[in-house]
Amino acid sequence: MKQLWGSRFSKQLSKSTNDFNSSLSFDKKLYKYDIKGSLAHAKMLFLQGILNEEEYNLIEKGLNEILDEINSNKIDFDCDFEDIHTFIEKHLTDKIGSAGKKLHTARSRNDQVALDFRMYVKDELNNINTKLVSLIKTLINLQKEHTETVMPGYTHLQRAQAITFAHHLGAYVEMFKRDVSRIKDTYKRTNSNPLGSCALAGTTYDIDRYKTAEILGFNDICLNSLDGVSDRDFAIESLSSLSIIMMHLSRLSEEIILWSSKEFDFIKIDDSYSTGSSLMPQKKNPDIAELIRGKTGRVYGSLVSLLTVMKSLPLAYNKDMQEDKEPVFNAFETVSACLDILPEMLETMTVNKDNMLKACYKGFLNATDVADYLVNHGIPFRDSHEISGNAVRYCIENNKTLDDMTLEEYKKLNSLFEEDIYSFIDIKKTLEKRKTTGAPSSTAVKEIIKINEDWIKENE
Ligand code: ARG
Repeated sequence: MKQLWGSRFSKQLSKSTNDFNSSLSFDKKLYKYDIKGSLAHAKMLFLQGILNEEEYNLIEKGLNEILDEINSNKIDFDCDFEDIHTFIEKHLTDKIGSAGKKLHTARSRNDQVALDFRMYVKDELNNINTKLVSLIKTLINLQKEHTETVMPGYTHLQRAQAITFAHHLGAYVEMFKRDVSRIKDTYKRTNSNPLGSCALAGTTYDIDRYKTAEILGFNDICLNSLDGVSDRDFAIESLSSLSIIMMHLSRLSEEIILWSSKEFDFIKIDDSYSTGSSLMPQKKNPDIAELIRGKTGRVYGSLVSLLTVMKSLPLAYNKDMQEDKEPVFNAFETVSACLDILPEMLETMTVNKDNMLKACYKGFLNATDVADYLVNHGIPFRDSHEISGNAVRYCIENNKTLDDMTLEEYKKLNSLFEEDIYSFIDIKKTLEKRKTTGAPSSTAVKEIIKINEDWIKENE
């Protein structure tokens, strides 16, 4: 095939070079953005008097037809064009003749690809945010059901102090809220129009870059033509935000996997979101959560891949940058799929409240409260910590819990202990005393749920 730039060459491209060089197999994904960008560019050229009305009308009609034809699978991408930009321009020229050849006036594929890619990333960032907000809504609904569901809180994966399930889920609400704000921030820096940077050094034509920005919904333009064609920060920032989302999703997935094991037995994943084993008939596996955990690897991989592609690249455009698209496409698709399935799995799981509560009675979760009891009676915390530690050791040696030690046994450790120690260290009561903002008592958690419901209204 004759290339758009073929005249300078005396030989045709070899088939292997063409295959190796072509990005059509993946950048075909950008066809809508490429056409939208070309429509805006043509309109601006017309408004600036660079295209006449007849030429502009032909280009507009031709591009819209191509869009319809691709949408209805009348044109397929199974061909050896170099990329989506060449593909669409050739189809346009075949359709409308020489007016089509004028479309590329004051434009290069370098600013064209930067534009298409930014438009794609902007849409995908919005898509991810919509899905994050619905995940947060699901979590808040679950929180509302579980403000009284007592469970152990952990450090070092050892039972530490009693919390509620609502409080535990609330930690993820905060993580995903930060993700939303990170994505919004990334969006701001993606929202500048590179078109008009041309190959690297702008153009001699009197174009209006602000006009194309306005038509395409960008709120600014890239202010340096070299940067306009060679900046991929917006893609790297997106991958970084997506990686952090996956890190959060993987932590939640890991907990779901642990909680659904017989060792914990805190939740049951619904049958429709788990699989069995072809060998062991009894097995029910948390595949969805495991896959989300596993897919975190490929999103991190995409980030590292693009950072490495961009490392040390001299200005401005280099063909290396064609390698920017696949990792970004893959990461957006992966995160989007994870965000689709996770809320469904959360909504359908069963919470085993009894086992969560039972777990709080093993592991001395109220040992801090024994110490606090003595602090209330004037003993310095360091000393009361030691006395409580002695109580725990006594219980371990005598196979008891802090709740079933007798008052006599308590008094042997310190004479200040009285009958009211039992209600003071009652797991549910200790929890209700943790009322400060951000703490796990149901009162405190309900306060935060309200704040976050307002957040949802502002971010929907
Ligand atoms: N397919 C190319 C890419 O994805 C488009 C830009 C090509 N520019 C060029 N001068 N070869 O980066």
